[in-house]
Amino acid sequence: MVRIIEVGPRDGLQNERETISLSARLDLIFALAEAGLAEQEFGSFVSPKAVPQMAGTDEVAAGLPTGLTGWALVPNVKGMERALASGCRNAALFTAASEDFVQANIRMSIAESLEVFAEAAGLFRSRVPEGRLRGIVSTAFECPFVGRVDPEAAVAVAHELLELGVDEVVLADTIGTAGPSEVKRLAAAASDIPKEKLAWHFHDTRGTAVANVWTCLELGYRSFDSAAGGLGGCPFAPGAGGNLATEDLVYLLEREGFRTGVDLELLARATLPVLDLLGREPESKVQRAVLAGRS
Ligand code: HMG
Ligand code: MG
Repeated sequence: MVRIIEVGPRDGLQNERETISLSARLDLIFALAEAGLAEQEFGSFVSPKAVPQMAGTDEVAAGLPTGLTGWALVPNVKGMERALASGCRNAALFTAASEDFVQANIRMSIAESLEVFAEAAGLFRSRVPEGRLRGIVSTAFECPFVGRVDPEAAVAVAHELLELGVDEVVLADTIGTAGPSEVKRLAAAASDIPKEKLAWHFHDTRGTAVANVWTCLELGYRSFDSAAGGLGGCPFAPGAGGNLATEDLVYLLEREGFRTGVDLELLARATLPVLDLLGREPESKVQRAVLAGRS
């Protein structure tokens, strides 16, 4: 079984010019849950001035489907207080391997973000001892401002996150530039982190995400983030394209004999109402093939 964390309702919608209504956000989450995506990043508790598309995540949290494992992105203590007040049981703290990107994204240095996260994690543990925390390392391969990132630098941040108490770390290719040999180098640098404590988050800007996932699978990793319809991108990462499409990920996995628990037909239709609202066509090749009845 491979674990998929569907990030479409957060990463997929945060970068769109159109702000989607709360009910359309919830409809998307329900449709994805119906398709079998039992773990979803449903929103972020960030400043609504910074990311207006994610305003109202508190209300989304209140309306989630029963049984869903919902994750929310949290950048600081205020975000954690909002997450806890909304009944959130799983939170993802996010920083990066590159100083310039962290500054652009959350207006902190890496060290400041880790200090803030230690406080936020302490608050979380005191209120939800059974809850789970992720720590996301953006720009783990390359930064839109300073270029390639040393794998050791990314792994050092991952270790700091684990030390402050996150249950797993996520290594992210924020702008979608990496290829398989870079994945192997980063995985080698991270070889002392247990595989079950590491997940991967690929953007597919240049079409390398599926190859990168395959590389990770061969190395024994089993947790991946992806976004239905291939939506996504970070508003503070110039040039970031959509995420690895969940359709592409599910097709690869099932075709290669891994179980996902996801119904590809339902998944291919799940994003159609949102794509319609955004005035976009499906970009995932698998989604297009399924909708055309070819898969
Ligand atoms: P700041 O301006 O330094 O914050 O922003 P501040 O503490 O000075 O506060 C400024 C104002 O924001 C105040 O309000 C605060 O109350 C408010 P005012 O007094 O002006 O009315 N505020 C908040 N409001 C709601 N929720 C909060 C919160 N915090 C402060 N949590 C801050 C710092 C982190 C808040 C801001 O920069 C921010 O929200 N950034 C969000 C960045 C973001 O969401 N980026 C996209 C997600 S990351 C991503 O996409 C990458 C990922 O996919 C992995 C990958 O691909 O690499 C995860
Ligand atoms: Mg992302």
